[in-house]
Amino acid sequence: MTAQTIVIVGATGDLAQRMLFPSLYFLDSEGKLPKNFKIFGAARTDLTHEAFVADVHKAVKARAGKYFTEDAWNAFAQRLDYHTLDAEKPATFKALAGLLKDSGETIFYLSTSPSLYDAISTHLREADLVKPGASRVIVEKPIGRDLASSDVINDSLGRTFAEREIFRIDHYLGKETVQNLLALRFANALFEPLWNKVSIDHVQITVGETVGVEGRWGYYNDYGALRDMVQNHVLQLLCLVAMEPPASLDPDSVRNEKVKVLRSLRPITSLDDVRHRTVRGQYRAGVADGKTVPGYNEEAGGGESDTETFVALQANIDNWRWAGVPFYLRTGKRLPSKNTQIVIQFKDVPHSIFSGESLLSNRLTIRLQPEEDISLSLMNETPSLEGVALRSVDLNLSLTDAFKNEAPRRRIAYERLLLEAIRDNQTLFVRRDEIEAAWTWIDGIIDGWKRFDIKPAPYVAGTWGPAGAYALTERNGQTWYE
Ligand code: BG6
Repeated sequence: MTAQTIVIVGATGDLAQRMLFPSLYFLDSEGKLPKNFKIFGAARTDLTHEAFVADVHKAVKARAGKYFTEDAWNAFAQRLDYHTLDAEKPATFKALAGLLKDSGETIFYLSTSPSLYDAISTHLREADLVKPGASRVIVEKPIGRDLASSDVINDSLGRTFAEREIFRIDHYLGKETVQNLLALRFANALFEPLWNKVSIDHVQITVGETVGVEGRWGYYNDYGALRDMVQNHVLQLLCLVAMEPPASLDPDSVRNEKVKVLRSLRPITSLDDVRHRTVRGQYRAGVADGKTVPGYNEEAGGGESDTETFVALQANIDNWRWAGVPFYLRTGKRLPSKNTQIVIQFKDVPHSIFSGESLLSNRLTIRLQPEEDISLSLMNETPSLEGVALRSVDLNLSLTDAFKNEAPRRRIAYERLLLEAIRDNQTLFVRRDEIEAAWTWIDGIIDGWKRFDIKPAPYVAGTWGPAGAYALTERNGQTWYE
């Protein structure tokens, strides 16, 4: 059923202020929140109601920019309330229970460190704040740093909430173009017959960032690019590209198909695989986004470390559809551009009738960032009177332009996800078995890196990672598309 209340635990934190309150504000200004929907901010800081509302006002205004209006804000502010809540003080949860007596269906958004999930969910349960069938919880990554620690978190959440009530966020699933992948594949007759090993040569998924660790060296150093990005965002993209058509869009139909993909990932554990199918990198000083930037170990809070800030992998999906089709995955910090894209590289034509002309095989590119667009490269005849002259030309679809009336601004991924959680739809949230299958594959790689002592190779900030990343594709006669 539709939720009537959301409690954001960790309401003074960065995620809540930069993403969650602005997203709720936008949903409200578009009339998407239920009529009497209440938003409780909860955090350890002792804040008056007025001080809290003033902080949220500032955060929303900064994020909404030219889309901010005082009218919409005044209506939104009526929904806000604040309560001091301390994970170490169960009494503060009892007090919250008093306030939420008539709250109706309630969402608890744990926008805190996962190390607090256990204490918070236990106190919520013991204070009778969790009503079977009428409560749900939203949690953020990282859900553990390996399979064993993710089990501890999931078990602990499971003592308070049923799986049906646990909404694990992967914010990539809220991005418009990620949604569009489903539409592209399953609302068009054109692609699906070609979407397999017969027609596709390989797939590339790149999630490039120009930023460094953004003051989070301590957190990041414990995780690295493989755990921070591949275990979740990159593997979710891979699932949507590779999964079988689900029977419907209901949560379990979609998630059943995704988990099958994750379970079909060929393990990367032997020395040969770890050497030839994985690349680790760490950035050194260089120039990114036009600025001179320090190396990873020289970042504020940094030290001597072997954590990778770049990773490239060759994944293989061992099933009938994808046998023999490599999926190249790469992600990293301090790369030349903020660029998230999926490239589907089709095979060459079986026989060329254009002697003397080199044919480039078709390529479908789905770009999520910086712009959202889709392009298909096709071979064309160049206008000329002399013989045949072919050239590859792109058929471009800019989603930003095509939908500028419906969506004049770029939405925050959390808008979609919050709305789906309010409407109690888990399709865009990650199920426990997906997390487990993803960690199983990732743990194998990390274990291989340890056993064979694979250290990150240096790369200069502002480049596409270490040379090994090029060798990864070139070994199979393929090249990264940049
Ligand atoms: C987060 C990672 O999950 O995603 C960050 O922890 C990363 O390290 C961020 O920068 C990237 O998200 P986006 O939406 O900016 O691509």
